[in-house]
Amino acid sequence: MYQTDVDLAACNTLALPGRAAAYVRVTAADMLAEVEANPRWLGQRRFILGGGSNLVLCGDFAGLLLHMAIPGRRLVGEDDEAWYVEAGAGENWHAFVLWTLARGWPGLENLALIPGTVGAAPVQNIGAYGLEVGELVARVRAWDFRRNAYVDYSREACRFAYRHSVFKEEGRHLDGSLAIVALTLRLPKRWQANCRYADVAQELTARGITQPVASDVAAAVIAVRQRKLPDPAVLPNAGSFFHNPIVSAAQAAELQQRYPDVPIYPQPDGRVKLAAGWLIEAAGWKGKALGPVGMYQKQALVLVNHGGASGEDVRRSMAAVQAAVRTKFAVELTPEPVFL
Ligand code: EPU
Repeated sequence: MYQTDVDLAACNTLALPGRAAAYVRVTAADMLAEVEANPRWLGQRRFILGGGSNLVLCGDFAGLLLHMAIPGRRLVGEDDEAWYVEAGAGENWHAFVLWTLARGWPGLENLALIPGTVGAAPVQNIGAYGLEVGELVARVRAWDFRRNAYVDYSREACRFAYRHSVFKEEGRHLDGSLAIVALTLRLPKRWQANCRYADVAQELTARGITQPVASDVAAAVIAVRQRKLPDPAVLPNAGSFFHNPIVSAAQAAELQQRYPDVPIYPQPDGRVKLAAGWLIEAAGWKGKALGPVGMYQKQALVLVNHGGASGEDVRRSMAAVQAAVRTKFAVELTPEPVFL
């Protein structure tokens, strides 16, 4: 079950080099208890890996890497109002979305083509085109290495917020102490297309679709993503590299005065979200690179590896982009991916 000295270049979508001292492909939840019971791994550092699409590999990993590959997807319940669908942590997210749509259970269409696995989706509360997965989560099941037990999290217990969840608190997505094994979603039967996001609405209009069904929305989202975001198989990347920063209303007002076209998104708590991609572009970093790592030509928020980059190259470019945005706008950008 254990492999040693495993090459991780193919396990991260930035295609960064690195090797794991020990590696287990976890294909069943019960394997996690076995890992814990093995004295060989006592006190060893652990890391839980999904699709590797939100990861900056900073060289070799001396501990035990658990690659989550638990399969399975099924309808686990249905009532008058919703379908309840469960998937194993290792399922590919996009394939899962397409499967639900093909079964006639709409709801996930706005999250089509997001790279990564089902198990990683709730950790950073993946979101796109006006929907966050947390809105549809019914339950997350995880193996807790600290308690040696399964723990079920309700949607409330997950404490979802923008690119945030309880799984990120106390650094539990970093320390390998919690492994999500399955996700259950509640997909309401009363469905309405969510086309508030301008790019998606425009794409549907261009296709002459006025009354979209879920598969139309998925097709539009896929087209928009393919146009704007690089395919990791062609140009290695980890999606949006920074969070969209949230600043005070006063700071946003001041920025608006200096830069009237700065996009702003007022939040329910009175603060204001800014578009990191806009800030990076305005700071001169769209399409710019430092060594092999730069910001993507068509979407300045996506950091790309033009070939042969190391984790150190990523760190250097990241710091240069952060400094440029800090100098020009006095805004701090925080990276979205996990650094290992
Ligand atoms: N913008 C620029 N220049 C750029 C990029 C963007 O001026 O180079 C401007 C756009 O014109 C727009 C604003 O910034 O006014 C927002 O851009 P966009 O709609 O492309 O979305 P985003 O804020 O850059 C976020 C998510 C994406 C998600 C899209 C669509 C984050 C960190 N990113 O990007 O998520 O797909 O919205 O909902 O919240 C991801 O997390 O990996 C990801 C791709």
